[in-house]
Amino acid sequence: MAELPSTTGSPMPSFPKVDIHTHVYPESYMTLLRSRSTVPYIYDPPSNAPSRLIILSSDDNPSIPKENRGRPVDSSYYDVNEKLSFMRTHNITTSVISLANPWLDFLSPDEAAFWATKINDDLNALCESQAPHSGTLLNESSLLFAFGALPLSAPSTDIIANEINRMSSLKYIRGAIMGTSGLGKGLDDPGLDPVWAALESTQTLLFLHPHYGLPNDAFGGKETIERYGHVLPLALGFPLETTIAVTRMYLSRVFDRFPRLQILLAHSGGTLPFLAGRIESCIAHERKFVVNGGDVEGPGKSIWDVLKQNILLDAVVYSEVGLKAAVHGAGSVDRVLFGTDHPFFPPLNSKEETWLSVTMNQNAINSAFGEDSESAKAILGGNAARILKLDA
Ligand code: URA
Ligand code: ZN
Repeated sequence: MAELPSTTGSPMPSFPKVDIHTHVYPESYMTLLRSRSTVPYIYDPPSNAPSRLIILSSDDNPSIPKENRGRPVDSSYYDVNEKLSFMRTHNITTSVISLANPWLDFLSPDEAAFWATKINDDLNALCESQAPHSGTLLNESSLLFAFGALPLSAPSTDIIANEINRMSSLKYIRGAIMGTSGLGKGLDDPGLDPVWAALESTQTLLFLHPHYGLPNDAFGGKETIERYGHVLPLALGFPLETTIAVTRMYLSRVFDRFPRLQILLAHSGGTLPFLAGRIESCIAHERKFVVNGGDVEGPGKSIWDVLKQNILLDAVVYSEVGLKAAVHGAGSVDRVLFGTDHPFFPPLNSKEETWLSVTMNQNAINSAFGEDSESAKAILGGNAARILKLDA
């Protein structure tokens, strides 16, 4: 790949640097959130104070004034120019954007299909608007691709499967993002089989991302959460939610029934790589499973094979030890992909141009594998380019 021109003065890397975990709330979705007064919603204070994004139920604490609830929301959440500027600052050549949580989970059944079509068409058009036109740029690679959203609250799974089929023919869509609630009963729900089947048959990568966390009681209740802000729900609630969701899929034999399903797990799989051995051991010692004369047919495939064959992990783990666990769990550097989680975790000091949340992940890659090593390049972009067919 040739060097791309950069407006910051520092040249773009001569290899692709692809951000596969980067969110956007399209303008239409912002309007939808502004029209609501229950979670998820955007609150615009009557004063000139910044609007607030209240998407986590732990954020909607009535003892906190609305203008302090949740987090401030600025144009980095919806303006594509902010995304491009962030990419230039961090030498990112390509971003695979996705709608941020809680996606379309909260919609009434009759609205879901409309919004999924709208959001997916909007995302595709946004990517198209930034695509270089033939002959006008040094480099023909597109800057933006997207993971589409699913109408999970639709009245039938046929509607969800139809949208998966439709989005897989949109030029810039490279997969679908989904939370852990599925149709409302979690990801071991057999009712999801038509969704897994549609993802598998269209070879659509599923990006599994947390949103709901753990119940407040797990952290000592609302008062404790309020005392420490987002630290407990985001540092612990999110990764454990992902771990539980994918383990339920595994226990219910989803990967035995849909052996070609490909899932990208947010935040390096939560704690899955670290806990896989414990999951294996608990299954081997569980009397409920048929293998031990029990009454439930347990998973056929080993959790290690699922990690190597069905699961990809992002590299949003912020430490060398976490990244190494991800690579060992995935079985190879070829299944771990760089991401940023932009626009979440902005620098709290607005004068900093480079985001700490990005450099922590970049440093973990460099110290684990060596700057400019083949492994680092694979994680930073080569894997995403190959797996998501970004050249096609
Ligand atoms: N907080 C969120 O609500 N979502 C993210 O993706 C990251 C942080
Ligand atoms: Zn995220």
